[in-house]
Amino acid sequence: MKTKKIDVNGISLAYTRGGVGKPLMLVHGFPFDHRAWDSVVSLLEGEYDLLLPDLRGFGESTTVDTQYHIADMADDLAALLDYLGIEKIAIAGHSMGGYVALAFATKHPQRVDGLALISSQAAADTSERKEGRYKTAQDVDEKGVEVVAEAMTPKLTERADAQAVVKDLILRQGKAGVIGALKAMAEREDSMPTLSSFTFPVVLAHGDADALIPIEKSQEIKEALPSAQLVVLEGAGHMPMLEFPNETAEALKLLK
Ligand code: MLT
Repeated sequence: MKTKKIDVNGISLAYTRGGVGKPLMLVHGFPFDHRAWDSVVSLLEGEYDLLLPDLRGFGESTTVDTQYHIADMADDLAALLDYLGIEKIAIAGHSMGGYVALAFATKHPQRVDGLALISSQAAADTSERKEGRYKTAQDVDEKGVEVVAEAMTPKLTERADAQAVVKDLILRQGKAGVIGALKAMAEREDSMPTLSSFTFPVVLAHGDADALIPIEKSQEIKEALPSAQLVVLEGAGHMPMLEFPNETAEALKLLK
């Protein structure tokens, strides 16, 4: 799939698109870009018209100097849909991509044709987690993105092959985007109160060996929104699309 770019909200937003069927947007997590989905694209492109953005500050998308919010990242995606003339779409967000998908669904519920949260959560950060993010942002500023690659890789997945892929992906990201996203995640809204207003289908897919965001976070969402479908990805860590691509693709097909 060829990368294309559009100018929106003061940034250049990169995306790829391919496949046939109902539109589905795959929103990557932190600190990756759309290539995090590579292993599931071939499993889904026969079923969906796939749209894969690089969130601002990641991959080939640029960012701004001023601090932004998760909701701004969601607005970038709304602007992309406007540009492409897509009124309604199913959205799947991985981890931070889930935060962006939740912000999109909260702001633009009428545009959502289904929502999948993979290895994600709806609750805001605890004050301790928030503080940790600012400390990491400072470390990245002083020492570079390597700091995050070293600290996160072992927590993202236990599998050596997947670790090599995630580390490589992290090291391709720029400092400004990583710092901007850390602060945006720290300041994100609590989405738990809005869950009960969702009228579209919701799928939660979570690895039971996720060391970064525990599966209890998806169970919490299921309790608040009993109509949501929870898919437990047995043995998966935080990167199920790399660790268990077939099972992850099957979970995403529930949005059809
Ligand atoms: C992610 O994978 O997107 C992040 O680890 C999420 C987070 O740090 O909250």
